[in-house]
Amino acid sequence: MWTKSIILLVGLITNLALTAPALYAETIDGIDLTSDAAKSGIVKPMNIHGFITPGGPVFNFTGPLDEIIPKIQELYPEWDPTKPTPTTSENPSKVKRYFQGRPTCWLVVGWNTSRAGAYGQGDYLIALGENTMCGAEAGTCARTGCNNDSAVDLCNDRTTKVDITCPRVGRAAKEIADDCVTVYNGQETTRGQWFDTTGYNIVVRKCLL
Ligand SMILES: *[C@@H]1O[C@H](CO)[C@@H](O)[C@H](O)[C@H]1NC(C)=O
Ligand SMILES: *[C@@H]1O[C@H](CO)[C@@H](O)[C@H](O)[C@H]1NC(C)=O
Ligand SMILES: *[C@@H]1O[C@H](CO)[C@@H](O)[C@H](O)[C@H]1NC(C)=O
Repeated sequence: MWTKSIILLVGLITNLALTAPALYAETIDGIDLTSDAAKSGIVKPMNIHGFITPGGPVFNFTGPLDEIIPKIQELYPEWDPTKPTPTTSENPSKVKRYFQGRPTCWLVVGWNTSRAGAYGQGDYLIALGENTMCGAEAGTCARTGCNNDSAVDLCNDRTTKVDITCPRVGRAAKEIADDCVTVYNGQETTRGQWFDTTGYNIVVRKCLL
């Protein structure tokens, strides 16, 4: 009786051990599609630091873009956040090399959201230029804010902080909105995620989560 229960228990544990990785290690073309940060629900404001033009004041702010942009404008009155900075010289196609494959659509935890809002955030991030870094603490998603209810998150599955250029985040968000689109109630909606191989990913979803 005891022996039988133990064998059953061992069998159950072995079974779980064998099936659990299959459940969690979702991959497409060898890319790990799991992100603990993206599904954790831990969303913090983005850390944005750097400078707009070389030699100009260095800043380090943490908060939503709509609060940070006016502070940067005080430091750089000439800077127009609605236009890409002239220092943005990186070939847009290069963004594809940082990330793997294509964005995955509709899989990330969260709700579908307006595509216009995702593009709006992407444009602001690109306008910050290549000298500004966007950072997320270990195990969290850093959010740039909400534009038309749409969030752009930098989700960090590493055990240390990740800092990547803000335009790289912005271009990834726009690629997600390009790839993932469905028309719902006459509005173009999107939701998606794009993984880097080094432990972070960009997410576009509704601000609710
Ligand atoms: C930005 O400020 C935070 C909080 O004061 C600090 O921990 C961080 O090291 C700073 N980052 C940079 C790049 O200076
Ligand atoms: C928000 O969405 C509405 C309707 O789709 C659109 O008219 C408006 O321009 C959008 N606003 C921004 C800031 O993208
Ligand atoms: C989001 O859009 C996808 C793709 O069209 C659809 O399959 C899914 O049901 C939508 N989710 C919601 C909550 O509307």
